[in-house]
Amino acid sequence: MLNIALPKGRLGDQVYEMLASIGYDCPGYYEQNRKLVFESPQKGVRYLLVKPSDVAIYVEHHAADVGIVGKDILMETGADVYELLDLKIGKCRMAVAAPENYVEDPDRTLRVATKYVNVAKEFYGTKNRDIDIIKLNGSIELAPILGLSDVIVDIVETGSTIRENHLKVIEEFKDISARFIANKTSFKFKNEIISRMLNQLREKVK
Ligand code: PRP
Repeated sequence: MLNIALPKGRLGDQVYEMLASIGYDCPGYYEQNRKLVFESPQKGVRYLLVKPSDVAIYVEHHAADVGIVGKDILMETGADVYELLDLKIGKCRMAVAAPENYVEDPDRTLRVATKYVNVAKEFYGTKNRDIDIIKLNGSIELAPILGLSDVIVDIVETGSTIRENHLKVIEEFKDISARFIANKTSFKFKNEIISRMLNQLREKVK
């Protein structure tokens, strides 16, 4: 049985559809309930529905053999997994944003609110910029509005959250999309099914 960690939500549903279309469908997936595990012994797959930010952890720790995760989360967790394929869905950008009237004072420590602490530290590290990180778990755009931070580091997809909260993008510094990842041990011992799935996904992504 191949254990597949899927991110709960729209991206997970999109990926499930891709996998179902290449033969890895599972009965009951679309029934709206609170079940977190779906399996098909015939197809040899078991889907685990996990919080998007936890997918890489499940895969790294071998609780799942493979998974689908945003590049933003892979960068942030630094998980020791194989990144096998860019699925070219769930596209967005990692960006710095600030209030529309914001002017940076380079002599002051920059206060940065973000969910992506490691990504932000690395980004400003390459610029040799002193920062204070304010770690938040959501609604990041509120932080500069309330004066909690100067800027935010966050993902921007359509840009509507930024616009509707009167912020502006200062710099986009990384393209993000969903990646197919594998646990390193699973890749060795379940290589046949993982490679088959990888090749079929590659055909779909083309
Ligand atoms: C993400 C991100 C932005 C928003 C960007 O938040 O943190 O707030 O989506 O999308 P947009 O450019 O299309 O507006 P999410 O919806 O995951 O909620 P969160 O505030 O709980 O992080």
